[in-house]
Amino acid sequence: MKGTLSASVSSSSGVLFALSVGVLDGGALRVQMREENPIGNLYQVANVVLENVELKSKPFKLVQSSSEYTAIAFNSTDIEHTLAIHHRPFRMDLSSRNTPIWTFNEHGYLHYEHQRLKDSPPPTDGSEPAQSNDETLSEDEKTKKQLLEEIKKDMWDESFSGKIDSKPKGPTSIGFDMNFPGFKHTYGLPQHASSYSLKPTRGSEAQYSEPYRLYNFDVFEYELDNPMALYGSVPFLMAHRKDYSVGVLWMNAAEMWVDVERKAGRGSSPALQMQDYVPFSTISQTSATSTTTHWMAESGSIDVLILLGPTPAAVSDQLTRFSGRPALPQLFAIGYHQCRWNYLDEQDVADVDANFDQFDIPYDVLWLDIEHTDGKRYFTWDKVKFPNPADMQNDLAVKGRKMVTIIDPHLKQDDGYPVSKKAKDLGLLVKNSGGSDFDGWCWPGSSFWIDYLNPEGRKFWAEQFKYTNYQGSTPSLYTWNDMNEPSVFNGPEITMPKDNLHHGGFEHREVHNIYGALQHRATAEGHLVRSDNTDRPFVLSRAFFIGTQKYGAIWTGDNTATWDHLAVSVPMLLTIGGSGITFCGADVGGFFGNPDTDLLVRWYQMAAFQPFFRAHAHIDTKRREPWLFGEPFTSTIREAIRRRYRILPYLYTLFWESNQNGAPVMRSIMHEFPEDENTFEIEDAFMLGSALLIHPVVAKDVTSVSVYLPPSAVWYNYNTFARISNTASPVQVETPLDVIPIFLKGGSILPRRDRVRRAAGLGVHDPYTLVIALDKAGSAKGKLYVDDGKSYRHETHGESIVADLEFQGGVLSSTSRAWFEKRGAADGKVVTDQATVLESLGNRVERLVILGMKASGVKSVVVKKAGETAGKRLEFSEEEVVLEGVDEGSAKQTVVIVKDPKVLIGEEWSIVLS
Ligand SMILES: *[C@@H]1O[C@H](CO)[C@@H](O)[C@H](O)[C@H]1NC(C)=O
Repeated sequence: MKGTLSASVSSSSGVLFALSVGVLDGGALRVQMREENPIGNLYQVANVVLENVELKSKPFKLVQSSSEYTAIAFNSTDIEHTLAIHHRPFRMDLSSRNTPIWTFNEHGYLHYEHQRLKDSPPPTDGSEPAQSNDETLSEDEKTKKQLLEEIKKDMWDESFSGKIDSKPKGPTSIGFDMNFPGFKHTYGLPQHASSYSLKPTRGSEAQYSEPYRLYNFDVFEYELDNPMALYGSVPFLMAHRKDYSVGVLWMNAAEMWVDVERKAGRGSSPALQMQDYVPFSTISQTSATSTTTHWMAESGSIDVLILLGPTPAAVSDQLTRFSGRPALPQLFAIGYHQCRWNYLDEQDVADVDANFDQFDIPYDVLWLDIEHTDGKRYFTWDKVKFPNPADMQNDLAVKGRKMVTIIDPHLKQDDGYPVSKKAKDLGLLVKNSGGSDFDGWCWPGSSFWIDYLNPEGRKFWAEQFKYTNYQGSTPSLYTWNDMNEPSVFNGPEITMPKDNLHHGGFEHREVHNIYGALQHRATAEGHLVRSDNTDRPFVLSRAFFIGTQKYGAIWTGDNTATWDHLAVSVPMLLTIGGSGITFCGADVGGFFGNPDTDLLVRWYQMAAFQPFFRAHAHIDTKRREPWLFGEPFTSTIREAIRRRYRILPYLYTLFWESNQNGAPVMRSIMHEFPEDENTFEIEDAFMLGSALLIHPVVAKDVTSVSVYLPPSAVWYNYNTFARISNTASPVQVETPLDVIPIFLKGGSILPRRDRVRRAAGLGVHDPYTLVIALDKAGSAKGKLYVDDGKSYRHETHGESIVADLEFQGGVLSSTSRAWFEKRGAADGKVVTDQATVLESLGNRVERLVILGMKASGVKSVVVKKAGETAGKRLEFSEEEVVLEGVDEGSAKQTVVIVKDPKVLIGEEWSIVLS
């Protein structure tokens, strides 16, 4: 048994590369390949991505070792895997359960244009096919030749709209291919305004003429159905087929391009003598289509994690185990956010706030865009429009509401502006290629940018959030980091020149995609600094990268008020959430332009089920607060928002689960039904957790939609509680403007709070309704997570409850014992006693609503608590639904309702229906 395999690989131009392959505990294989003697340091993205991750290598067995190949075997998630490394030509083949799942360099695209000095001769690329006559080249060789030519077009001193990139280390590039044999579908590579299942970019099925580009930048009015780069990048992709899921993550922050190509067959027959130990006869006859992906980056090294699956849920777990678990947000952060560019002054803020109350619409956060500052100097206030910012925040805070201000990374060049002056004096700014402070143009005019790659730069930034530094800020003020790709109005492609210099001597080209995420991180650290590590940060960022989920939320950037922008927000969010960043949303209404009223209504209905729920609008648009449209529209929007507030206990539990295992909050139907091939391309509907399936209306004048409900489950219409009778084929559902089709999966227990308060935090002592939807066997399961919704006392003092709810054989039981016993057990920390936790967090259940059961069969309902011998009889009824949020008109449905069972969430009890 060994830990890591290492070898030296020589390119035909004589440059040496160190290869290492290791198996990691937690379900991943790590492949690293880097130049042995680079000219300068190579930026190691993994040092940030894998920070604080315990990397334990898992031993493997060497099963073959010959001059032709080396093969190892190891177990991961109880499945045996084998990896064969072929020496000449170099290639790796990974199989699992005797079926190939991943290959590296099968198509020979491995390419490494190393760093060199300007006066050295250009490398002869020995890996290039020897033939020069294109007629004799194979398809792969032609593709590769073409790609190399494209890369070589980038010569020294690349010029982009008149701006010269000096390329001091030469035109470097790295590329390689990874094939997924038997996998037709791949997902990931955010951010693109494109489909959920990735469209091929090469080959006979190609739907785009360019590869997916990953290069964070600020794009004005982005185009849809396009592989062009947007604001954020996660070089992660998951391949999925009926019986398997496998993920790959390339830890590299340089500009990247990824081609996706479908090929017939399971890939080239491995020329391996793998038959020696893999019985090929047992290889299952999976889909005859394979997907080949070709990855190219401008610089850096090869450092790839292969996430071994075998399900989408396992891949999400593995991805976030290594790149970081999504932070648990505060409860207010998952409420509704009201933003526009700009709420003009303190009076405007007070009026908007008052109107929410007058129109009985809940909301949690009011946002201020760039105009609130003194001349776009962040951490300051316009003294005329916002003379008393602390009073303004406190007026919201007494109603349980918060405020967010925008804090962008560009700092106005002004010696009278302390943030900018100090950062400059301390030498914390990004430098230009000549080594002076980089001077670029953004909102405030000539600006500087803090170097967030520098730990001192991040520390300085974090300290700006202290109440003594950020004058006029209060504990209920949180932060929005916009323009952090970074956006530089006069830079190449509206971002920083690639030869700018960062801490450690790294060129911007090597760190570009991680820059914004490090600002996001420094801001979140600022929230911790100001609260002495007691208040969970809330920071929204536009740029994102691998691991952004550790720092906070993101949104999809500057979208437009059109139906197709509403439609594309579903696949975009499924992709982002599936890439680890589970707290994400698209702006309600569309940023640019004025939405028609029906579009706005439909947008609210859908977005109320997004993880991050914010309305936002450009400064040139008409006001569009929910009450401005008159009836019935205001009522329909009100109900859309209230629908979200009712399920906050469920939603908060989903965020907690995401924090535990990376499960997307908003997830694809494929994620929940990975064996159902009909779900693999669904992107007009999605799941919120595993209980709710939502099919939003995303086109004008649509009077009905066709909804695919996986037939392996029982489904209920969530709006009427009616059981769906025929699920063999898609179900047709009527969609008048006040209806968004929502379905509850049989087998789920959905915790709700049916009293809706003005803000999320005001309802925390209200009782719960448990909606119990029975499956075919008459059973259901659910979880409810509760903590104080703001601090870290759930971690430091064990102050939280996880109630496991189960309905089986007519008995609903609630247990939390395992959770209470587990708290702090591992590190022996002192935890708050159970009675105290129950007293502060253990709310009562006011009602059970049981779907899929006939009251006529129930003679009595008895509640039994732990330690009590005799049970107590309860009232129950089969009644017409009169619950808030359930459509009474069409819902002459009967459900079994048990009123006030007098039990607490967090206690042990059972309710017996017999
Ligand atoms: C994997 O697990 C199986 C069953 O426990 C065992 O027989 C096999 O030897 C293991 N393989 C490796 C490489 O450890």
